[in-house]
Amino acid sequence: MKHLIATSDTILQAAKALQAGSLVAFPTETVYGLGADATNSEAVAKIFETKGRPHFNPLIIHTAHLDQAQALAQFNSTALFLAQQFWPGPLTLVLPKQPKCPVSELATAGLETIALRIPRHPVAFDMLTKAGCPIAAPSANLSGHVSPTLAAHVIEDFADKDIIVLDDGATTYGLESTIISCLEEAPVLLRPGSLSQEDIAQALGQEIIGNGNTESAEEENNASPNAPGQLKSHYAPKATLRLNAVSIHPNEGLIAFGPHRLLPNAAEFNLSKSADVREAAANLFQGLRYLDSLDVKHIAVMPVPDIGLGRAINDRLMRAAADKDTPKP
Ligand code: TXA
Ligand code: MG
Repeated sequence: MKHLIATSDTILQAAKALQAGSLVAFPTETVYGLGADATNSEAVAKIFETKGRPHFNPLIIHTAHLDQAQALAQFNSTALFLAQQFWPGPLTLVLPKQPKCPVSELATAGLETIALRIPRHPVAFDMLTKAGCPIAAPSANLSGHVSPTLAAHVIEDFADKDIIVLDDGATTYGLESTIISCLEEAPVLLRPGSLSQEDIAQALGQEIIGNGNTESAEEENNASPNAPGQLKSHYAPKATLRLNAVSIHPNEGLIAFGPHRLLPNAAEFNLSKSADVREAAANLFQGLRYLDSLDVKHIAVMPVPDIGLGRAINDRLMRAAADKDTPKP
């Protein structure tokens, strides 16, 4: 952990560290975020590992400018209106991803949608501008702890971790951003937050649907977020999954883990040839998508050790497998 008081020089240092794939905790007007280059899957995997976040919950992607955000997601007229009214600020918009969105699949948990925010905090803005890349950032706390509103909170949680902490004192709001989904005509509240529902409704001239209790915006700190509906918010492959496979059946594709020889006739994706769970986590959604694109109907998955990020990988794999076991009504 490297504790830096935010100045023009240290912000530049942090931006360079982000470009090199390191993690930087930085202030926003809501809470401190733990940031990584959103286009770098391994850097994003480090976020989950460092937080000990048990599930690959999708992350909010931060940019400095609207045109940068528009390169990542499609804005309907309501979304554009909300962005122009409230950005920069404590509002996150969930939008359809652009077809060529360069953000890592791990950061969006393999979804077709993406959560975007332009923060108002001058340190965040300067850092985002200097880094130039979109930054994925959940709140900078260990999973299960409350969100940090001071650099000291971040330091408490991550004292032994390899991160930079940019310190600019207390955050203004101390509460996470409000999350609004703009996937349909009518905007839907997914998480209440620092921007009040009334302010949004007043600007729009209409009430907002939703009470913020949707599964997709489930608080990450909830220890048992395994309501059946939670699957909806994560990528489930079209193929069935057979987990902990030690052999492969005819017609099965293979999700491999660790060093092994390529099977001559199987559609195969290796999560990590060197058996590195961080690399595997970074590749998971991409691997499932790849086998789906080959139209594989059944996938055998080699065992992934249930340690560190391996737990999150196994959690996702089990959800994806269970989803297929249960006939849909
Ligand atoms: O104020 C904030 O929003 C802070 C600062 C750092 O920006 N960030 C934050 O991130 O609170 P986090 O990871 O603690 O919460 C992100 C929430 C999660 O509940 C996640 O499920 C939801 O955003 N989310 C992300 N992408 C989503 C998507 N595509 N659809 C629905 N929900 C999404
Ligand atoms: Mg959080």
